[in-house]
Amino acid sequence: MTSDDRVLIFDTTLRDGEQSPGCSMTQPEKLRVAKALAELGVDVIEAGFPAASRGDFDAVNAVAREVQGPVIAALARCAREDIDTAARAIAPASHGRLHVFLATSAIHREFKLGMAREEIVRRAVQGVQWAREHCADVEFSPEDASRTELDFLAEVVEKVIEAGATTINIPDTVGYTVPDEFAEVFRYLRKHVRGIEKARLSVHCHDDLGLAVANSLSAVLNGARQVECTINGIGERAGNCALEEVVMALKTREAHFGVRTNVNTTRLYPTSRLVSSITGVAVPRNKAIVGENAFAHESGIHQHGMLKNAQTYEIMRPEDVGLSRTTLVLGKHSGRHAFRDRVKSLGFELDDAELNRVFEGFKALADRKKELFDGDIEALVLNAEGHESGPWTLQAFEGTLATGADSTAAITLKHSDGREVMMRGAGDGPVDAAYKAVEAATGISLQVRKFEVRALTIGEDAQGETVVYAEFGGRSYRGASVSTNIVEASVNALLEVINRIELAQRNAQRVS
Ligand code: KIV
Ligand code: ZN
Repeated sequence: MTSDDRVLIFDTTLRDGEQSPGCSMTQPEKLRVAKALAELGVDVIEAGFPAASRGDFDAVNAVAREVQGPVIAALARCAREDIDTAARAIAPASHGRLHVFLATSAIHREFKLGMAREEIVRRAVQGVQWAREHCADVEFSPEDASRTELDFLAEVVEKVIEAGATTINIPDTVGYTVPDEFAEVFRYLRKHVRGIEKARLSVHCHDDLGLAVANSLSAVLNGARQVECTINGIGERAGNCALEEVVMALKTREAHFGVRTNVNTTRLYPTSRLVSSITGVAVPRNKAIVGENAFAHESGIHQHGMLKNAQTYEIMRPEDVGLSRTTLVLGKHSGRHAFRDRVKSLGFELDDAELNRVFEGFKALADRKKELFDGDIEALVLNAEGHESGPWTLQAFEGTLATGADSTAAITLKHSDGREVMMRGAGDGPVDAAYKAVEAATGISLQVRKFEVRALTIGEDAQGETVVYAEFGGRSYRGASVSTNIVEASVNALLEVINRIELAQRNAQRVS
């Protein structure tokens, strides 16, 4: 294959994905995702929109400093301040990209921007020129391109290429287009834009009609050589084109598309789990490629066929996406060696110290749970990775639960300074009672905004994941924990939040 057969994967999980409701991430979480994306082999990471907030700026800057391999991109409107801010944020990257955008469709021109066509062209060109003053790698996106008059879209694209844009991204911002119509947009641009060969064509689709992946593939068949997408398809409204789906479609049907990507597909599943665990947005069971059922065969006829030849009902091998073939794994008699192999086959690389830590957790869980599934092991690894423990840890808890009366809880916590504190609480259910006791013990009282519990695997003794979203001092926090005991998982999720608040308070005191 030639370089023209390479499709670049531009991941926007940390920008378009993160800005959607329920998907916000802290800076350390963004760094963990960015490092996982680099391992996955994406070509470009869009790390954020630095002008949007100080937090966004810092996160993009941290990714640019710490993540090697992919190009690090930052989004900016066609405004001098936005572009200068984005340029400062990506400055430490070995290879940075400025991504400037401006809406071009009639409806956006009239109602959102109040600008005539000439003004749009002038500002788009100006934005690209400003970006080029900072950076040789400049991408331009005509927002709502799929609803823009084709002749005007071609005019804008031609002018921004003349101004120095090196990538032209065509967004279906509202998820409105359909594959054959979108194909025509790419054919039209390739035919009518002078100098189109100087830029790489890119596609960016939203999933409002469930067509984001199909539309992106249609664009690839018609000359797009960069696909913008997100892990698990998270993003505005119905989401963006799902990275794992578009990558596996291109790989599985390589003969049809005649292109390849640089993605290490065996990292797809672990990366999907990481993003789901960090954002708290669950992957639907039947989700293509990374859903729990994606490679499960329930029907007897299918199972029979599979035993004879897996290809009867399987177009991809689970191992190719980082999923092991068996779902039932280890028990309490399993040794460290078997555990290490299993962790490796799930796509995780742990050093000896990390493996020891996770193995201890595995043994403790195996004492409580008959069968351990892949989901259990992933949860243990993801929970251990990068999670600071302390200053507060849970030592013990007891409680009462009765109909028609408040529940009570007695919680004992240990602080890293040596204090051991026991407090009681009463409330509407065991979790409410436990939370009151934890707040009393730590002296930190916060507003819990959202509380989610879900089973990670199957069976009565399945591990439950609790995610808690809370507010304190005008800031939002998220904590998550996993256990076979929901109350314990809930308390540990709250402690993750409280520990973060206490560490932030300590750092603030050190600075002032
Ligand atoms: O959907 C969209 O149009 C965007 C642009 C900023 C590329 O996200
Ligand atoms: Zn978008």
